[in-house]
Amino acid sequence: MVGKKVIITGVPGVGKTTVVNEALQKLKSEGIEYQSINFGTFMFEVAKKDNVVENRDQMRSLDRTVQKRLQQRAAQEIAKISGNVLIDTHASVKTPKGYLAGLPEWVLRELMPDIIVLVETDDDQILMRRLTDETRTRDKEGSRSIGEHQQFNRSIAAAYAMLTGCTIKIIMNPDFLLERSSSELADVLR
Ligand code: AP5
Repeated sequence: MVGKKVIITGVPGVGKTTVVNEALQKLKSEGIEYQSINFGTFMFEVAKKDNVVENRDQMRSLDRTVQKRLQQRAAQEIAKISGNVLIDTHASVKTPKGYLAGLPEWVLRELMPDIIVLVETDDDQILMRRLTDETRTRDKEGSRSIGEHQQFNRSIAAAYAMLTGCTIKIIMNPDFLLERSSSELADVLR
C-alpha cells in the first residue's frame, strides 16, 4: 500500500509528541490509521546494542561520526515500514560542537517524506515546559538560545524542501491551545 510519509520536528520540549498523540486519536475515530514512529527510539536501540550510551539524552553528545551511523541505520529500518507513517524526529540536533542536521541527505534519501511539519511555540514557554519535565535530562539553555534553535530549524527545513520537493508546514503549539494545534496536524495528515 502506498501511504503518506510525514515527518514531525520541533526543538526538545516544544510538545511534538503530545500534539502527535492528540492528532492520531482524532484520526483513529475517523478510521484513518498512521504508524507513529519515534526516530530517536530507533537510534537509541542501535546505540544500546553498540554499548555507546545508557540513556537517550546522551546521544546528542556522541561523536558526529557515531551519530551519523546511528541516523543511517535508523533511517534504513524506518524506510522498510509501509502505509501511512508519521516520524517524530528533529530538523536539527544541538550538540556540544554545533547544530547537527537531523535529516541529512543520506536520511532523506531513505525516508523521502511528503510533508515536514515544524512544531513551534514561544521560546519562554518551551523553557518552562523543559524545567517542569522531570522525566528527562534536558540541556540547560535560556530562551534566547532556544529561539536561535527554532530559527535554525526553519532555515534547514528550507534545504530539506529543496532536496526532496516536500512541503513544509509550521504548526504553533502554545499553552492552553493543544486542541487547535492537534486539529491542525490532523488536517495535514488527512
Ligand atoms: P526525542 O525522543 O525526540 O526527544 P526530545 O527531543 O526530547 O523530544 P520529546 O519527545 O521529549 O519532547 P517533545 O517536543 O515531543 O515534547 P513533549 O510532547 O514530551 O529525541 C531523543 C534524542 O534522539 C535526541 O536528543 C537526539 O539525540 C536523537 N535524535 C532524534 N532524531 C534524530 C535525528 N534525526 N538525527 C540525530 N539525532 C536524533 O512535551 C513536553 C512537555 O510540554 C510535556 O510536559 C507536555 O505536557 C507539555 N506540553 C505539550 N504541549 C503543550 C501545550 N500546548 N500546552 C502546555 N503544555 C504542553
